[in-house]
Amino acid sequence: MSSSPRRLLVTSALPYANGQIHIGHLVEYIQTDIWVRFQRMRGHEVHYVGADDTHGTPIMLRAEKEGLTPKELIANVWKEHKRDFDDFFISFDNYYTTDSPENEKLAKSIYLKLRDAGLIEMRSIEQAYDPVKEMFLPDRFIRGECPKCGAKDQYGDSCEKCGATYSPTDLKNPISVVSGATPIKKVSDHYFFKLSDPRCENFLREWTQVKTPLQPEARNKMKEWVGQPGESKLGDWDISRDAPYFGFEIPDAPGKYFYVWLDAPIGYYASFLNYCNKTGLNFEEWVRPDTTTEQYHFIGKDILYFHTLFWPATLHFSGYRTPTNVFAHGFLTVDGEKMSKSRGTLISAHSVIESGFNPEWFRYYFATKLNDSMEDLDLNLQDFVARVNSDLLGKFINIASRSAGFLVKRFDGIVADQAMSNPLLTQIAGANEKIAALYEAREYAKALRTIMELADKVNAYVDENKPWEIAKTPEREADLQQVCSVTLEAFRLLTLYLKPVLPNVAARAEEFLSIPPLSWHDVHTPLNSQNPIKAYKHLMTRVEAPQIEALLAANL
Ligand code: MSP
Ligand code: ZN
Repeated sequence: MSSSPRRLLVTSALPYANGQIHIGHLVEYIQTDIWVRFQRMRGHEVHYVGADDTHGTPIMLRAEKEGLTPKELIANVWKEHKRDFDDFFISFDNYYTTDSPENEKLAKSIYLKLRDAGLIEMRSIEQAYDPVKEMFLPDRFIRGECPKCGAKDQYGDSCEKCGATYSPTDLKNPISVVSGATPIKKVSDHYFFKLSDPRCENFLREWTQVKTPLQPEARNKMKEWVGQPGESKLGDWDISRDAPYFGFEIPDAPGKYFYVWLDAPIGYYASFLNYCNKTGLNFEEWVRPDTTTEQYHFIGKDILYFHTLFWPATLHFSGYRTPTNVFAHGFLTVDGEKMSKSRGTLISAHSVIESGFNPEWFRYYFATKLNDSMEDLDLNLQDFVARVNSDLLGKFINIASRSAGFLVKRFDGIVADQAMSNPLLTQIAGANEKIAALYEAREYAKALRTIMELADKVNAYVDENKPWEIAKTPEREADLQQVCSVTLEAFRLLTLYLKPVLPNVAARAEEFLSIPPLSWHDVHTPLNSQNPIKAYKHLMTRVEAPQIEALLAANL
């Protein structure tokens, strides 16, 4: 057990407020939540904050389509997102929104500090403009014929048919998705964050290549961008958008708004600030450059640039600390393919609950797939059923039901104290530092494999000792109590190890074992005869194959 408690601020990426949470998103929130719960069990000070990412053109247009104001839309979506996170036991300490007074104030003050540092520049650029709707068009709101292969109705940046990438001005017969009008070109003033400034280049080269223990894949990717001195590929970053735009107006620039990706990561701090104000934590202590606190961002690999280039530069040059590290994960596929609406594999979090699935089945399954890399991970639906039923139910839950019954019925729930020195228990408890190191390193798949190997040993112990046989021999009462006590204590240890992944099962187990909430050092607090257990409570049911069909059907 590490000696002095660490102080950790942890985030997951802020989901866009224009859609539902799906199981791809859940990979990330579950990955983060397991880590956060593990750190809390270790006795560290952890604050886990999130928020909805609410600004930008898509949200503005969707609200209009639904006859709502953007603020009404994001309020509705916030409630759905919060419900979904609660359903999956994602233990945010604060779940907020980027459309908040805290975020507006922070974003504006950060911008002004960047401007004072000479890192903001105004430039005129020419862009596609919808003359009917009277707005500039982001690439994905323009469609037309592919300049390479002629395929119709392709996006402004790439062709789904032939894979060509191009700029929206290359499209043939382009139309605005918003109004159907032919876009025209129009010039306007934009504000840029001068990432190409030598100060930024040098800082980012140092931050990504030396200072921060990024994942090797992430570091290599960034190396291409920051290059050697003089050969950096960093372009200046366009951080402004023209009205109409749902977002924060830029100081001293009427009609200009912060691009959503400028204020979104600042939303991490805004959520944390909101939480600090509610709880009395000292925000400054956490965000100043010489802080001893740690700051971690869990993200998907698709948003790496924003978190390892733009965000650290934004923080550093406005006088804040920078992240301790950024942890990127890969993308979820279903049965080896990209999630797809037409196959029913774009599975919403809510449909999982509505279809009667236990959310902890998903927590467990994703954990068996997660490691510290950016590799994609697959939800194989057959494998899902097998893993849940044979590992989780067959190997783990089963241990409790096999031992608790006899103890309660025959011994008033009292365990035999001398059972606690059994070598099997010493072996299981002895694995705790190894398992902790795997959780710490986000090697959940390995941690669970280790835990399940221990569960195998417990089941072998039960099979060898056959409590159901002993129970038939009245003179072997003491043996029966001994075997059941060993088994139940083993179950307690396995529950402790699985608690970051299965918080609800753990809470129910703690209740029937009649013990306070398990933390990591309770590895050394065995069950004892002074504290009888209560009647075994049903902890989890099996997943039935037809449920899978129903889930896919629900998402068609
Ligand atoms: N709003 C931005 C993040 C801003 S952070 C300051 C965003 N939102 S998102 O809703 O598109 O995605 C939220 C997170 O979910 C991202 O980290 C993204 O990588 C992750 N995932 C979205 N689809 C995913 C999968 N299919 N698989 C795994 N993670 C996925 O990006
Ligand atoms: Zn094409």
